[in-house]
Amino acid sequence: MLVLGIETSCDETAVGIVEDRFHLCANVVASQTELHAPYGGVVPEVAARAHLEALLPTIDTALVQAGARLSDIDAIAVTAGPGLVGALLVGVSAAKGLALSHDLPLLGVNHLRAHVEVAQLEYGELEPPLVALVVSGGHTSIVSMDADGTFRELGATIDDAAGEAFDKIARYLGLPFPGGPEIDRLAREGDPKAFDFPRALLHDGTYRLSLSGLKTAVVRELRRMEAAGEEPVLADVAASFQEAIVDVQLIKTLRAAAEEGLDQVLLAGGVAANSRLRERFTEETSANRQRLIVPSVPLCTDNGAMVAASGANLYAAGRTAGLGLAVDANLPLAG
Ligand code: KG4
Ligand code: ZN
Repeated sequence: MLVLGIETSCDETAVGIVEDRFHLCANVVASQTELHAPYGGVVPEVAARAHLEALLPTIDTALVQAGARLSDIDAIAVTAGPGLVGALLVGVSAAKGLALSHDLPLLGVNHLRAHVEVAQLEYGELEPPLVALVVSGGHTSIVSMDADGTFRELGATIDDAAGEAFDKIARYLGLPFPGGPEIDRLAREGDPKAFDFPRALLHDGTYRLSLSGLKTAVVRELRRMEAAGEEPVLADVAASFQEAIVDVQLIKTLRAAAEEGLDQVLLAGGVAANSRLRERFTEETSANRQRLIVPSVPLCTDNGAMVAASGANLYAAGRTAGLGLAVDANLPLAG
């Protein structure tokens, strides 16, 4: 059973093909990074137009990579939300066209759920209950995936998403867009203890996160140094900022796991590609004898394989969408 997954929710035009829910056959990402870089962020209209141009060639490349033809595909999965509405519409319209013309079932995928479920391609069937930290450019939450596969939000950011904080600080440091991977790289040469940036809400007794104060603290420190005529060591700023973000996510997620009695911890979303986040979670979960589930880096950032994997699960559960499938820019993970 081959499912082709289409992802166009933000700035990657991506197509993946998955066989029998667990086997990855193709994963092709056409990134728009260079188009958006001059603006320092994703421009929605530019994204939608670029998806339109890149989608069909990306589908063709994925089919070649899988050694398959369109006539071999059994179902079409597509991200229906959350994301940029114009960008989502390109993928959903194309998926409907393919489903209609090839008489295939259509599967409407939740992008955030797909970030979690992609782990099945490397770890096999997920065996909830587990706690997941879902951290991307637009989303940051700690959720529990219950035994029946439903998600329950335990806490989320009350202001900036983790990826957004990485990207904003990177921009402030003069690093190219997208900033997350740049800070990750720069931080390796820096001292994470050089600056003591705030870890907000750490002891508030909830699983909520707040990252805007941290962002302000970094900016204020840079301005102070500038005014004092001090030359900031950017690698130290990057490392200390990253350490603060990682600390709050690590501490709150592991506290949630302990308090909910869950011994499996899953990391998902683009920020889960962060090397320091992965390292700290690996150390701590190993010390606690918890199982850590973390997809390889190309499966953490937006990709089509995750949509195909999540779509394959929907197909197996008989949850096809029909041609009336609507996009939902604010589709929640839980509920
Ligand atoms: O999941 P994703 O690819 O797209 C969304 O669904 O938003 O996440 C993108 C976010 C961006 O903010 C990007 O800077 C961040 O993930 N990111 C990283 C790293 N790689 C990507 N943040 C920190 N360290 C990284 N290595
Ligand atoms: Zn994403």
